[in-house]
Amino acid sequence: MIAGIQQLENDALAELENAGSQDALLAVKTKYLGRRGLLTGLLRNISQVPAEEKPLFGKRCNEVKVLLENKIEESLLRLSEGAKKQTLTRGKIDVTLPGRGTRPGRIHPVTQIRREICDIFSSFGFSVVEGPEVELDYYNFEALNMPPDHPARDMQDTFYIEEKTVLRTHTSPVQVRVMQQVKPPVRILSPGRVYRRDSDVSHTPMFHQIEGLLVDYDVSFADLKGILTAFLKRVFGDATTLRFRPSFFPFTEPSAEVDIRCVMCAGRGCRVCGHSGWLEILGSGMVDPTVFQNVGYDAEVYSGFAFGLGLERIAMLKYGISDIRLLFENDIRFLRQF
Ligand code: PHE
Repeated sequence: MIAGIQQLENDALAELENAGSQDALLAVKTKYLGRRGLLTGLLRNISQVPAEEKPLFGKRCNEVKVLLENKIEESLLRLSEGAKKQTLTRGKIDVTLPGRGTRPGRIHPVTQIRREICDIFSSFGFSVVEGPEVELDYYNFEALNMPPDHPARDMQDTFYIEEKTVLRTHTSPVQVRVMQQVKPPVRILSPGRVYRRDSDVSHTPMFHQIEGLLVDYDVSFADLKGILTAFLKRVFGDATTLRFRPSFFPFTEPSAEVDIRCVMCAGRGCRVCGHSGWLEILGSGMVDPTVFQNVGYDAEVYSGFAFGLGLERIAMLKYGISDIRLLFENDIRFLRQF
C-alpha cells in the first residue's frame, strides 16, 4: 500500500509536468484529488491497511495531497501570468485608452438644505436632536392638544402601525419628548422624516421637516419674529421680505404662517406663488399653555415659541425645482445639478 502511494505521487508529478494548459492541469487535479480521484480512493480504503501501517499510510497520503495541491496552484498561477503577458505583448489591450473613472457622488439637495438650516440655528445656540419616526398617537397628536376627533387631525391623516401608533405626521412630537426630559431653557432643532397620505406635484407621502423650539423666561412673539427673520434672510438672502400671517395650530397660540416674497417673480405674481406674490415657508407660534401643562412646565413662569418647515419645499424654491417627486427618483442626471 505504501509503495502504491509512492507510485501514485510519481505518476501525478509527471502528468503535471506535461500539463501545458489550465484545462490539462484541472484534469490532473480531478484525476488524483477529485471526489472519485485516485488519491481520494486510496484514502477511502484505509480500512484495508494493516493496523500498524495505518499512521504512516495516512501521513503519506496527506503529504502527497498537499504536495499536489501546491504544485497545481503554482502551475495555474504561472499559466495565467503568462497569458496576461501574452495579451499585453500581442497588443490586445489598448493601454492608450482613457481610464474608466468612478464619479464622485453629490450631497442630495434635501440634505444640503438640512445641513444649511442646522448650521444657521446652531449659530443661534440651538442644538440638534432627533425623535422616532414611528410615533405614539399621544406624542403626535394628543400631547399637542389634538385629542381624538379633533378636526385638525383631518389635515394630517397618516399611516397607522397599530391603533395608537402612527408614522409621525410632523416633527412637533419631538417638542413634547424633549420638554418631558429637560427643564428650560430649551433651544432645540429637530430634523427628520414625516409621513402623510398626500401625493401630487408638491406632496410626497414621505417628506422632511425641521422643528424648532425655544423655551425660557420672557420669550415673546418679538423673539419669534426676530429669530425667524434672521434665519430666512440667511437662507434666501438679505433682501428677502417676510410676512407673518395669522393662522391656527392646536399647539401654538397665537400662531402665524410665515411667507416670503416670491423668489421667482419678486412679488409680481407667477405660477409658483399662485399669482399671490408670496410663498408660504413655515408654520410657527407661541407654545400653547396646554402643551406646557402636558409636559409639566409652569406656563405662568415660562413661555416659548415653536416652528416647523418642510425641507423639500425650501429646496424646491431655492433651486427652482418644479416637481417634488424629482427629489426622490434618484436620477443622477437630476441630482448632479445641485
Ligand atoms: N407641525 C406643524 C405642521 O406640520 C408646523 C408647526 C410647527 C406649526 C411648530 C407651529 C409650530 O404643519
